[in-house]
Amino acid sequence: MESRQSYFDKKQERFQEVCQRMLAERRLIVASNRGPVDYSLTPDGSLRGQRGGGGLVVALSSCSRFIPLTWVATAVSEGDRRLAEEAGGRIRAPLPEQEIYLRFVVVPRSVYHRFYSVFCNPLLWFIQHYMWNTPRTPSLGRAVYEAWEQGYVRVNQAFARAVAEEAGEDGRTPFIFLHDYHLYLAPAEIRQLLPDAPILHFTHIPWPGPRYWSILPEFMRREIHEKICAADIVSFQTMRDVRDFLVCCEEFLKGASVDHRACTVTHDDWLTRVTYYPISIDAAGLSRFAGSREVQRYEESLSMLRREITIVRVDRAEPSKNIIRGFRAYDNLLERYPGLHRHVVLLAFLVPSRAEVSLYRTYTRDLLELAEAINGKYGDDEWRPIHVFYEDNYAQAIAAMRLYDILLVNPIIDGMNLVAKEGPLVNTRDGVLVLSEMAGAHEQLGEYALSICPTDLEGTVRALYAAITMPAEEKRRRAAALRRAIQEEDITFWMQRQFRDLMAVSRRRQ
Ligand code: F6P
Repeated sequence: MESRQSYFDKKQERFQEVCQRMLAERRLIVASNRGPVDYSLTPDGSLRGQRGGGGLVVALSSCSRFIPLTWVATAVSEGDRRLAEEAGGRIRAPLPEQEIYLRFVVVPRSVYHRFYSVFCNPLLWFIQHYMWNTPRTPSLGRAVYEAWEQGYVRVNQAFARAVAEEAGEDGRTPFIFLHDYHLYLAPAEIRQLLPDAPILHFTHIPWPGPRYWSILPEFMRREIHEKICAADIVSFQTMRDVRDFLVCCEEFLKGASVDHRACTVTHDDWLTRVTYYPISIDAAGLSRFAGSREVQRYEESLSMLRREITIVRVDRAEPSKNIIRGFRAYDNLLERYPGLHRHVVLLAFLVPSRAEVSLYRTYTRDLLELAEAINGKYGDDEWRPIHVFYEDNYAQAIAAMRLYDILLVNPIIDGMNLVAKEGPLVNTRDGVLVLSEMAGAHEQLGEYALSICPTDLEGTVRALYAAITMPAEEKRRRAAALRRAIQEEDITFWMQRQFRDLMAVSRRRQ
């Protein structure tokens, strides 16, 4: 049988060939709100660059192991702003083995605040994750209108200008690869400046149906759909998102013709292809990292906390991740099965996120209080039922994923959820994946996981108990199938399909 290493090597060689062919045609420009490196100011006033976080950044950064790229991103932190000011245009990102040229988009702080902290995260993110409690929220007042005009529209235009300036660097218009909900208007803005550019927009988060989009005023939702359709390819994580997007275009774009079979939208004489590319992880890179000394050290310290059954969860501290309901399910499990006391532990790794949005702060406070209440209810000097690690520590999270018996991934809704892919790949104990059917990853992995409806507390308790009592042979079979599926459709698969489709656009245009 082929060794794991040569399997990965062959895969990477094939991908490398696609990258070479692509580069022979045009350069690649990537654009996203957050860039590959976060710069912070140290107390002595110097700059420190740290690898950026989040699924999008991790996935795209691994892309640059194979292909040099120019990455246009907003100057988010004070450090980013200082560097952008000092260095002017483009800088080479300080990442070993990666050829990334970073170009910052700098907008006034008040514009960025309206863009990120009023429009993108509280409003768009909440719509796209079905998070509003509609009898009460949201109420779109003047601040939201201003955030649209003075934030979202302006930042998208600034991105388009920066992309066009970068594109002018050599004679050939590059491939443009745009990311996420921050940049829905950018395709049309870029198209005006670079009419021939092959543009692909990839949305990392779910796309709701038209009724839920109607939380946004008509002119905003129409403009979003109109402008994103100026891309050649509009893409999502799952087929469900594709279907919802097509229906939205049919409803919101007057005169558009939508072909549900071919998955295309024709509007204003422009044909847009709509498709899905499930994002994944750098399986080869992660396997190497999981075996590193750094991860081993964390594994040693975490193994002190292990019990016969170790349940692990890893999330951004984010309401859509459904952390509170996950804790409640664990509480119910302990109440119903006292025999499990002292034999089970829940290790929750929560990465601080979006503290500037008040709902995130209250959500985090509430979940920490709930964890303490559960510890108070069942725990004693010998046993603490939940340990919460509230920090951004990737190596520690990977170490925990190596030793889980159960990985709980129960988001209310999620574009993909890369933890559901990282966990089974690095796990060493034939652990069971308990997975929300509303995570994008469920489309690929649901068959080998224990599926749950995320609001179904009772169902989650039963799934946890089923995982605890699952026969070893079944666990082994499921874990192996998960690993195989994740290795087959890894990050190279995600990128390869997109690059091929972009090249096809480019050839049609020549
Ligand atoms: O899922 C979309 C996404 O862009 C992820 O890549 C990432 O985990 C998260 O949102 C990042 O959010 P932020 O940049 O606001 O921290």
